[in-house]
Amino acid sequence: MAYAYYLSFRPHEQELAAAEAAALVPGIALSGPLARAPVAVNVRRAAHVALCARVLAEGASFSQVLAQLEALSPKAHDFAIEVRKVPPKPDLHSVQAAVLLADRMSGAPRLSHPAEQYVLLARKDWFIFGRILSRYDRGWTVHEHKPHTFSNALPARLARAMVNLVARPGDRVVDPCCGVGTILLEAAGMGMVAVGFDLNKKMTSPALANLRHFGLRGLVCAGDARDAAGSFDAVVVDPPYGHTSRRASDLYPELLANAVRLAPRISIVTAEPLEDLLTEAGYHLTARARWTKGQLVRHVYAGRLAGEEG
Ligand SMILES: C[S@@+](CC[C@H](N)C(=O)[O-])C[C@H]1O[C@@H](n2cnc3c(N)ncnc32)[C@H](O)[C@@H]1O
Repeated sequence: MAYAYYLSFRPHEQELAAAEAAALVPGIALSGPLARAPVAVNVRRAAHVALCARVLAEGASFSQVLAQLEALSPKAHDFAIEVRKVPPKPDLHSVQAAVLLADRMSGAPRLSHPAEQYVLLARKDWFIFGRILSRYDRGWTVHEHKPHTFSNALPARLARAMVNLVARPGDRVVDPCCGVGTILLEAAGMGMVAVGFDLNKKMTSPALANLRHFGLRGLVCAGDARDAAGSFDAVVVDPPYGHTSRRASDLYPELLANAVRLAPRISIVTAEPLEDLLTEAGYHLTARARWTKGQLVRHVYAGRLAGEEG
C-alpha cells in the first residue's frame, strides 16, 4: 500500500514544510509539494501537510490513471473528487478531469457532505489519484487572532511547525522565552502540556489570557530561561534576536546549557546560524530550515541529545 501527501506552503516556508513532513511521516519521499510514503499518518495537526491519501492509481500521464481506474472500478457510495494541480502544471481542465474520474467509479458523486473524498494530484509528469484519509485542521489560523500580541510574536503557523518537529500529543513542551505564548497556544492546541517562562513579568498575564481565550490550559511563570527548571519532553523556543536589545547571542550558550537539562529534544528559531552552538551543547541536529520574510532570515533547527531515540 502506498500513500500520497500534499504539502501546502508559500515559497519562504518550503524548507520548514519539508522538515515538518519528514518529522511527521516516517519514510516520506518529497518532490516539491507532492510526497509519497509507505505509511498513512493522520495529518490533522500539521502546519504544512495538507492531506494524506491512499493511492489508488498513479502514472506519468492522466490517461494512465484513467486506465488503471477503469480496471479497478473503485466502489464508493457517494463521493467528491478534487483536483490539485502543482507546478509544473499539466494542461488539464479540473472539472472535466473530475468528471472523467467519476465516470470510472461506482456510486454517485455528491459535492456537499460526501461520504468519501478523493483527490487527483496532478503535475505535468506525475498524476496520483487516491482516497483522502486525513486533512490538516488549520488550527493555527484561529490562534493568529489571539487577543494579546506584540511585534516580536512568532507567526502561529511557524510556531506549529516548530512544535511538530520535536513533539507529539501528550508530550510536555516548555518554551523558556514564551512572550505572549504563540508556541504555547500551538502546543496546547495539539494536546500537549504547555509550560512557559519569560524574563519579562509583563508577559505572563497576556500569555495566560491568550491560552484561556481559546479554552486551553497551560502554566506560565516569570523566570529566566537560563535557570528555568522542570522535566519536559521538548524545548520549543524563539529566544530574543538582539535586534532591539543587547546582542542576544550572549544569551544563547547559557540558554542551551539549561535546555539540555530541561528536555532531550529542542526546536529553536534564531536570526543567525546556530549549528555550532547546538552541537557544542550536545545536540544531534535532526532538521534545519531557513524561513525568510523580507530582510529577516530565520533559522529553524530541531535536535535531540545524543543517545535519545527519534
Ligand atoms: C522573540 S520574543 C518571543 C516571542 C514569542 N515566541 C511569542 O510569539 O510571543 C523573546 C522573548 O524572550 C524574553 N526573554 C528575553 N531574555 C530572556 C531570558 N533570559 N529568559 C526568559 N525570557 C527572556 C523576552 O521578554 C521576549 O518575550
